Amino acid sequence: MRADTEQDILKTELWWTALVTAVVTAIMLAIIYAGLVHHINPPSNIETVDPKTLHLTGEFTEGNLGTRVDGSQITSRIVATQFAFQPQCIVMPANRTVTLRFATPDVIHGILVTGTNVNTMIIPGYVSQVHTVFTKTGDLLMPCHEFCGLGHSQMWATVRVVPEDEFKPGPDGRVTCDAR
Ligand code: CUA
Repeated sequence: MRADTEQDILKTELWWTALVTAVVTAIMLAIIYAGLVHHINPPSNIETVDPKTLHLTGEFTEGNLGTRVDGSQITSRIVATQFAFQPQCIVMPANRTVTLRFATPDVIHGILVTGTNVNTMIIPGYVSQVHTVFTKTGDLLMPCHEFCGLGHSQMWATVRVVPEDEFKPGPDGRVTCDAR
């Protein structure tokens, strides 16, 4: 077998360098494209919450969960636990900017809303916040997508997107799936 000359080795190295550069460039372009065109962005919200007292005080107490309209702000608060979401169903209006806020008292969970750009992890100690506009009406599935234990596959919720004129908050500003 002929030993490679210095020239051959240099050629191989340059070829691999070009290949790796091309792959990294392609991945970077895909990330930029996803961010600019599909509005899929890495999380930037850093907000802490005490997982031990989540259910006792503050915005994630049971009575404060679900969708609430506050002026022009439409916010839904959801707690992710092993192995359920509280509430199990939230109502959101179509074609409005809405905010989803998640927290967990136990382990790492994750959510996505099928067919939308909503996708985030839910980490104990932090509030995960997502802004989005739902364009399609109907019941969208929101499963947990982070393996969180034996009941992981049974952990899901529903996002009920209703036309804007059917989105009617009660006197307390709340909208629930039950009332409909
Ligand atoms: Cu929660 Cu998987």
